[in-house]
Order: sequence, then C-alpha cells, then structure tokens
Amino acid sequence: MKRKIVSVLMCASMTAALFAGCGGSSDTAADAPANDAAADKAEDKADDAAADDAAADDAAADDAAADDAAADDAAAGGSDGGTITIGFAQVGHESDWRTASTKSCQDVFSTENGYDLQFVDCDNDAAAQIEAVRGFIQQAVDYIIIDPIVSTGWDTVLTECEDAGIPVIVIDRTIDDSDKYVSWVGSNFKTEGLAAGEWLKAYAAEKGISEINALVIEGSTGASATLGRTEGFKEIADANGWTILDSQTGDFTEAGGQEVMESYCKSYEGKFNVVVCQNDNEAFGAMTAMKNAGVEYGVGKDVIVISFDACTAGLEKVMSGDINADFECNPLAAPDVEKVIQTLESGGTPEKEIYMTEHWYVNEDILSSITVDGQEQPLTVVTQEIIDAQY
Ligand code: AHR
Repeated sequence: MKRKIVSVLMCASMTAALFAGCGGSSDTAADAPANDAAADKAEDKADDAAADDAAADDAAADDAAADDAAADDAAAGGSDGGTITIGFAQVGHESDWRTASTKSCQDVFSTENGYDLQFVDCDNDAAAQIEAVRGFIQQAVDYIIIDPIVSTGWDTVLTECEDAGIPVIVIDRTIDDSDKYVSWVGSNFKTEGLAAGEWLKAYAAEKGISEINALVIEGSTGASATLGRTEGFKEIADANGWTILDSQTGDFTEAGGQEVMESYCKSYEGKFNVVVCQNDNEAFGAMTAMKNAGVEYGVGKDVIVISFDACTAGLEKVMSGDINADFECNPLAAPDVEKVIQTLESGGTPEKEIYMTEHWYVNEDILSSITVDGQEQPLTVVTQEIIDAQY
C-alpha cells in the first residue's frame, strides 16, 4: 500500500526533524510581530499564498526522490488519491478561542478536501486526551493532531505513535517533555505575557499612573498558555516593582473568571487597579463580577482590564472600552497544519516550529507601538472593520 510507504518516509522525516532540533522555523516569535490587523489580514493571505509556493519549492528541493506524482497527489488531498484520515485530540470547548480552533480544523480537514477527521473533544481531561491518542493509534489513522491540555506527561504515548509510524503534529500549546512529534504550530505565550506587561508599562507612564497593584486570573493549570503568559507578565512586573496581589486559575472559562473575580473583589476591595485575565472568556466573567461588586473598570475608569485571545467578542469589548488591551492568540492553525501534511506526503521535511501571526489591540489611540524582546511592534486601535474580519 502506498500509504504504508508514505508512513515509512514520514518516520524518516520525523527522525531528520528531531536531529535538526528546533532551529529553522519559517516564522520565529521574533519574526512574527503584531501588526496592523484588518489591512494586514489581506496581506497575510497574500503572504500565505507566497509561503505555499515556497513550501512547495522546498519540498521538491528537500527530496529529489519524491516524484512529481506524489506531490500532485498530496496537493489533491491524498497520497494515493484516497482519503487521509486524521485524529484530532482537542483540548475541549472552554472558550471562544477553542470554538474557532475546532472550526478551523473542521473546515480545512473536511470530506470535500479529501480528509476523514476523527475529532475528540477531551473536555480538559489530560488523561482522557492520552487515551484519545491511543484510540487513534488503534484506528491506524494517517496523522494525529494534538493540542496538549498540559505540557508534560507525553513521552510514552508519543513513543507509541512513533512505533506505529503515525506522525504527530502539535498545535497551539506546547509539549515540554518530548520531542517525538513532527511539527508544532502555535503562539509564543511568553511573548504574549511580555507584551501585556510592556503595554501596561507604557500606558501607565502615558497616563501618569505611578503604582500598579495587579490581580491575575490565570488559565488552566499546567497549560503552556498559562505558564508562558504568567511568566512573561511577571517578568515585567518584577522589573518595574509592581505588586501582583494574587494569581489564581479561572480555567480559561467565563464561569471560572467570574468566580475568581468575585473572591478577589471581596479580598482586595479598593486595593487593585489592574486585572489581567488570561483569556477573553475569563475577562467576560471578571467584568460581570466587578459590575456586581460596583467596581468601575475599563478605559478612563478605576481598574485597567487586560485580556488575551482577541476573538470577536473580546474585540467588541475593547471597542466599547470595557477591555483596555487584548493580546491576540491566533487559533487558525489548520491551514499551516495542512501544509505540514502536504510536505510529508511529498516526502519533504516540514519546519519543526511554525509561529502564528498575531496582532495586539487597544481602545485608545495614544500609543502606536511597544517594544517586546527588543522588537518594536504596532498596537492596533480596534474598529468595526477589524471586528467584522475577526474569527
Ligand atoms: O491554548 C490557548 C488558550 O486556550 C486560549 O487562550 C484560551 O482561550 C484557550 O482555552
């Protein structure tokens, strides 16, 4: 079966990728500045088309043995003209971001596009997610996509995938205790946290705010998105002598954000002037709690609200002034995952790390850019046009 031969080729590609280590990403965190949003979306599409061409060229150059017929088959959606079966172990359905991520995969890996997508919603249960991956091995799927709920505990099951000759592609969150996957497509969460901190520093200077007393509502415990955002923001807070009064998990949900904020409003009444919510849904819950407690938040009010994700509903809250700044985490990874699969199908070696393009959004037109990790990056004032173009 040609599918089996392709699997062997893919194992060779995985091994080559492992030896290549983490270098050579086509779009590193440092190379992926936040930028001018709506106008840039069109440019992004053009860039994607150019990147498609470049990836096709690379694949051809990478492996002279891969014949034209194989490349044609891959572009058509199947190495032998047949359906490609993909198992996708998704985190759950906790947020608007997650809904957009799931839709992105379902749209790209559709029957019409030549795929059979086996989708498992793991409902934020790390053990269930590992069992879902084992189920995909038993089904002998062609590829496995994992968005890891937590960043550790992966090496054994990834070894099982490798032994079965099934390439694994990781999206969004990272796996920190194993290298046995072909590619990872996602965001630099520490950079997002640093960006939030750098924005707050510049904003406070602009507004003459001399003291920062922040409350953090973290995402799910053990998720790399939580770890990175927490670390990045704390680094800037420590460097500037800010006080982080408390930092507790809201589990990336609206209910979690509300519950934590209700408790913060009682414990820290009148003592905080910044709330950092690690996703939009937590911010929605936190705003409900603050409103109920009589706390004035948002632009020109007592408490600055910072959020992450920048999904449509989050951006609406930025435009209305309820959220001061929102740092995008782009959930539309599936087109890049498909490029990885096409590269493998044509015998090439995909990039080990692929970073999503992201934008940073604000309400007020008072700062045009901030510098993060030594790189100046634009801040985008949210407009209705931007909201209409968002996922
Ligand atoms: O891993 C990405 C994070 O997970 C998003 O910020 C959050 O909304 C989601 O649930």
